[in-house]
Order: sequence, then C-alpha cells, then structure tokens
Amino acid sequence: MYSIPFVLTLFYISFFSKNVFAGEGTYPLAYITGDQILKNSTHIPTGFYTFKHVETGKYLQFIDFDNQVVPTEGANSTVFNGTLWTVKWHGNDEYGGKNYSIHHLNKVKYDKCISTRWDHHRGLDDAAVMWQCEVDNITRNDIDFDIYPGFKGVYNESLPRPIHRKRQLEPRYINTYESIREDKQQWLFMRADPSETPLWNNVRFDPETGENRMNGPLIEPDREKDRHYGRHLFYLVSGAHLWNMIPRCIYPQASYEFDFTPNNTGVTALDHCSFGNASQLWEVTLWKPESFPLGFTPNPMYVDDQVESSRFLLWNAHTSPGSTILWWGCLIGFTFIVWIWHQ
Ligand SMILES: *[C@@H]1O[C@H](CO)[C@@H](O)[C@H](O)[C@H]1NC(C)=O
Ligand SMILES: *[C@@H]1O[C@H](CO)[C@@H](O)[C@H](O)[C@H]1NC(C)=O
Ligand SMILES: *[C@@H]1O[C@H](CO)[C@@H](O)[C@H](O)[C@H]1NC(C)=O
Ligand SMILES: *[C@@H]1O[C@H](CO)[C@@H](O)[C@H](O)[C@H]1NC(C)=O
Ligand SMILES: *[C@@H]1O[C@H](CO)[C@@H](O)[C@H](O)[C@H]1NC(C)=O
Ligand SMILES: *[C@@H]1O[C@H](CO)[C@@H](O)[C@H](O)[C@H]1NC(C)=O
Ligand SMILES: *[C@@H]1O[C@H](CO)[C@@H](O)[C@H](O)[C@H]1NC(C)=O
Ligand SMILES: *[C@@H]1O[C@H](CO)[C@@H](O)[C@H](O)[C@H]1NC(C)=O
Repeated sequence: MYSIPFVLTLFYISFFSKNVFAGEGTYPLAYITGDQILKNSTHIPTGFYTFKHVETGKYLQFIDFDNQVVPTEGANSTVFNGTLWTVKWHGNDEYGGKNYSIHHLNKVKYDKCISTRWDHHRGLDDAAVMWQCEVDNITRNDIDFDIYPGFKGVYNESLPRPIHRKRQLEPRYINTYESIREDKQQWLFMRADPSETPLWNNVRFDPETGENRMNGPLIEPDREKDRHYGRHLFYLVSGAHLWNMIPRCIYPQASYEFDFTPNNTGVTALDHCSFGNASQLWEVTLWKPESFPLGFTPNPMYVDDQVESSRFLLWNAHTSPGSTILWWGCLIGFTFIVWIWHQ
C-alpha cells in the first residue's frame, strides 16, 4: 500500500530536490520510519529508572541549578537521586500506546520533563532539555526511596554555568523556545532487538489498565548489590516529528553553547536515530516499579507543526494515504504541464 506514494516521492525528489530541501526540512519517508520506530518500541513498566549510555558509561542526569539535563561527569556517573528518573505512561492510541514521559522533580518540587527542543536555525530537533511537564502532569511523584544515602556528587566549578537571571537576557531570547507540544515530551523505548519482548523481574506492564502487575515478590532496590527489576537496552527516541522528519535519538553529549538561546544551560544532544548503532544505546534499569494515574487527555491538535507550511505537501501526518496520493497526483500533473510549457 506504500508503493505508490513511495514511487511518486522518489520521482518528485529526483526532479525538485534542490528546491524542496533547503535545510533539514521534512523527510518524505517519515511515514515508514515513524511506523517502524513505533513497531520496534515496546511497553515498559512505569516507575523509577536510570539511563546509562552503553559506550561511555555516562548516565542521563538532572541538575537542579537552572533545570539542566546533561550526561554525568566523574563521580556522578552512578545511580543516585540525580540520575533516577520517573517514567510515566501516556495512554493508549492507535499505534499501540508506547509513548512515555520522563520526569524529575527539582528542589522546589516542580515537575520537569525531558523535552525535545526545536532549533530554528538548523531546522531540526537539536537537543533534549528540561521543561515544565505539560503531559502526564496530574501527579508529582518524588523518589520515595534513597538509592545512595549521603551521596556527595562532584561539583565541577570549571563546567560552564548558565548565565544569570532572566532579566539580564535580551528580549530576543524571550519565547525563542517553541511552546511545548505534547509529542515533544513523549519518548519511545525502541528495543535494541525488536524480535525480543523484554521481560522484567517480578513485574510486567499491563497496557489495558496502565498499571504494573506484580508476578513475584517485591525487590528491595540496592545499588551496591545491583539489585533491581531488570535491565534492557533501548534507543531513546523522541516522539516529536516522528511523522514528518528523520527520527531523533538521545546521544550522550552535553551542549552548553547555542546560537539562539542563552549559552551555558546544559542540554543533551539529539542525533538522527541509526538502528544498529551502539553509540545510541542506553542501558535502562528499573529500580522500582510504580503505577501512576494516567495524566493525559488526547489532543488531536498536537502534531501541528512548525515546519513551514509550504512543505506540508511533502508529507503531512494528518492526511490519509488516499489524500496524499491525490496531492502527489496533482503535483506530478502540475510538474508535467510546466515541463511541457517550457519545451
Ligand atoms: C526496526 O527494526 C528492524 C530490525 O528488526 C530494523 O531493520 C529497522 O531498521 C528498525 N527501524 C528503525 C526505523 O529503526
Ligand atoms: C571538570 O570539567 C573540566 C571541563 O570539562 C574537565 O576538564 C575536568 O576533568 C572536570 N573535573 C572533574 C573532577 O570532573
Ligand atoms: C499540566 O499541563 C497542562 C498543559 O500545559 C496545564 O494546563 C496544567 O495546568 C498542568 N497541570 C498541572 C497539575 O501542572
Ligand atoms: C534522595 O532522595 C530521597 C527521597 O526523596 C531522600 O530521602 C534522600 O535524602 C536523597 N538523598 C540525597 C543524597 O540527596
Ligand atoms: C553532580 O551531582 C550533583 C548533585 O546533583 C550536582 O550538584 C553537581 O553539579 C553534579 N556535578 C556534575 C559535574 O555534573
Ligand atoms: C505517541 O506518539 C506518536 C508520535 O508522536 C503519536 O502519533 C501518537 O499519537 C502518540 N500517542 C499518544 C497517546 O499521545
Ligand atoms: C554562544 O557562544 C558562542 C561561542 O562563543 C557564540 O558564537 C554565540 O553567539 C553565543 N550565543 C549566544 C546566544 O550568546
Ligand atoms: C552512530 O551514532 C553516533 C551518535 O549519534 C554518531 O556520531 C555516528 O556518526 C553514528 N554512526 C553511524 C555509522 O551512523
């Protein structure tokens, strides 16, 4: 059923690629990759997790100061409050309901979520940042156990720090972030091996109810004895632009320099997802499962895009395959007429 739009896509690209693809732009095969990403992803139990990068051993870390998310450095590359994240499920949908949000409370107990940031200059999602949770936010869930009592993290003075107070920022920085659409705070856990359904110790997630089902005794999480509910390898894929751009995955590279928002606020880079590339794999450990009430009301508007409107002809997640074929038909016809004219 994809073959007609696919062929037309190739046809059109071969004629017009220079005009159409200024900057990153849309990706005409996104409906294929998006679908694959969802198929390759899986349900996981909700609860408290750590994310450790397989190659560098760095963990995804929340830093309270100015709400940053950066890969760990030195002594912080371990399991402690700063690297423990609350993972909540985002409800069912026609794709199997595999979207999750990843939360951390800051020290004044505001709920912050790992969010996808759009870079206006490069025209793509460039980084994972912390932003106030606008999805799955009906409860604030603090970590209710101490995985590393008395942990003293490294404080590295030489690391860049955010520039100071907001009032010192120039007006042009105000509202330079896109307002957060729901899909920007949703993440997919894409299996390293999609043929396997990961099993967790003594717990499984039930997507019918949105709750974890225990099927064994409780496990007391223990960092030193490495006692937990299971550990699996995943790509962390952003749900943003899944239907019109090349999918973006979290890659453990801190960034403190930007050309459109204030420098020195730590974020973690996103890169094009490349399946089979171990540099994008995270070891995901469930330290404690917990069921959360679903904090989500579906909003059909959320996919509306900031990609320029002229590009919607290339691919629009809202159009059905039928109307897409129609569009392509019109485009090809029009192209043909223009071409005849120029003979
Ligand atoms: C989905 O998984 C298959 C292997 O089962 C892989 O060949 C394919 O590239 C994956 N798709 C994406 C978009 O990562
Ligand atoms: C502190 O950060 C600097 C700059 O990134 C790095 O060179 C240094 O090794 C770090 N020190 C520690 C103790 O992590
Ligand atoms: C959750 O996010 C929505 C959307 O931004 C907002 O309207 C609502 O007030 C938030 N709820 C809480 C409890 O923060
Ligand atoms: C970690 O969080 C737990 C639960 O919120 C708290 O009791 C504990 O004091 C924290 N530990 C450190 C080292 O901050
Ligand atoms: C290590 O973690 C502590 C506690 O969260 C934080 O204050 C500190 O900035 C972190 N250090 C680095 C280098 O990330
Ligand atoms: C999950 O994310 C995908 C990709 O952004 C989206 O199409 C789908 O509607 C989302 N599901 C829910 C329940 O929000
Ligand atoms: C951030 O720093 C880089 C390198 O010093 C500089 O080119 C850029 O203009 C700075 N961006 C902002 C928004 O200040
Ligand atoms: C693998 O992923 C890393 C990080 O995203 C990237 O720098 C590298 O170019 C990728 N390698 C290949 C062969 O795609």
